[in-house]
Amino acid sequence: THPFKVSIALFGATGDLSRRKLLPSIFHLFQEGSLKDDFALIAVGRRDITDDDFREIARNAISENGKLETLEGLDLFLTHVHYVRLSITESDTYSSLKNKFEDIERTLDTGGNRLFYLAMPPQYFTDITDNLRISGITETKGSKKLIIEKPFGKDYDSAYKLNEEISKSFQEHEIYRIDHYLGKEMVQNIEVIRFSNSLFEPLWNNHYISNVQITSSESLGVLDRAEYYERSGAVRDMFQNHMLQVVSLLGMEPPVSLNSNDIREEKIKVLKSLRKVEAEDVRKYFVRGQYDEGTADGEYVKSYREEENVSESSNTPTFIAARLFIDNFRWAGVPFYVRTGKRMKNKETKIVVEFKEVPMNLYYQNESDDRLAKNLLVIRIQPNESITLHLNVKDYAGEQDTKEIKLSYSVDPTDLARTVDAYENLIFDCLDGDATNFTHYEELMNAWSFVDPVNAVWENDPASFPNYRSGSNGPVKSSLLLSKDGFKWWDV
Ligand code: BG6
Repeated sequence: THPFKVSIALFGATGDLSRRKLLPSIFHLFQEGSLKDDFALIAVGRRDITDDDFREIARNAISENGKLETLEGLDLFLTHVHYVRLSITESDTYSSLKNKFEDIERTLDTGGNRLFYLAMPPQYFTDITDNLRISGITETKGSKKLIIEKPFGKDYDSAYKLNEEISKSFQEHEIYRIDHYLGKEMVQNIEVIRFSNSLFEPLWNNHYISNVQITSSESLGVLDRAEYYERSGAVRDMFQNHMLQVVSLLGMEPPVSLNSNDIREEKIKVLKSLRKVEAEDVRKYFVRGQYDEGTADGEYVKSYREEENVSESSNTPTFIAARLFIDNFRWAGVPFYVRTGKRMKNKETKIVVEFKEVPMNLYYQNESDDRLAKNLLVIRIQPNESITLHLNVKDYAGEQDTKEIKLSYSVDPTDLARTVDAYENLIFDCLDGDATNFTHYEELMNAWSFVDPVNAVWENDPASFPNYRSGSNGPVKSSLLLSKDGFKWWDV
């Protein structure tokens, strides 16, 4: 029930993510009343600044966010914001944070509910959770929750260890592992489209679907994140988490209920059913790429290897395309093609579900191509949010028997303006105790098991990079991946 009563400690409060997404999201929750009188935000940092200094940082960050319609309530919001200085790795400095929580809890009726948000580089995760426990901050009469950013480990083993360590301070139901794609409205819409219409579910299987395509391309390059990205690459940065989450939502069986455990259980089954990848499969069905110079948004841009803090001979992929199979009754034989890359032609995330052809074509199409247009269901996640169904109808002009039409729904702009960001949805859900749209431990571990062999092959085998121009659709081999099977990436 809201308004939520809570103190939120934000680690990494002056960082990029906090300024661009988290502070505006938390402010918007305050603006629309989910957070109110009995709420405090404690920014935690290493810098020696005052409450007022931080409030100024927050004010600027929030004012610069293009999606907020008004700044009404900002002054009042800032009176709920505090700053605490500590040294992440030194447990005795955490008394400052403990005192701050206690001060707040004496004056506000937060119920002792404490949320810890780690918007920090992963090397600090366990120092923080350990020190929160050692300093007694995790002992509270209210609830305690941890929101943790990715990357959660770099492979199966490190994720296992990280989890062991965090589990000393937080139980699984208190850990909210962020995958911000799960906060996107259109990603959440996948389930609604599938399970609230009788139209799709009967066709949603290997009898009627020939293949599924998921594309998440960005025109941006690595920006100033090379230090992180060099260790992560497209596989860990996008594929292991965001892309596999979308695959599991598309592939899952109908859940018993919308209860978080029921949904997660079905998603886990999909990840478990992913066909295991052998070294040889990586060479055949996985394509890696790294961007060369080229153009992005009309301007010249340099190659990945020329970016700051990137090694001249970097073997880090900035692009991955893959063909996956979900080996179960529903999906046996249906390829799921997934691709994601930086410095590509467009910024766009979309899903294309391609249906099989009718058993026999009775209609004349045109001289060059007598095949009917394919039935496609296109789910656009961003930047535009829409759902389009491609169908054949009678061609009134009479030059051919049929023509392709598109039935389309675009999300209303006023609905789009309801939240400032996917993060707002996720912070709300966490406060509400709803873990559905966070990554469960089992999902995480199954996803790592799946991608570990890919990283193992690629990391031990230097690629001939760069192999795609900035502003293109990625390496040529990514098209071959589909053409070998008689398909193509739909440019729709
Ligand atoms: C993040 C990745 O998780 O997702 C970034 O770390 C990437 O590298 C971003 O740019 C893409 O998110 P979105 O919401 O813009 O598709």
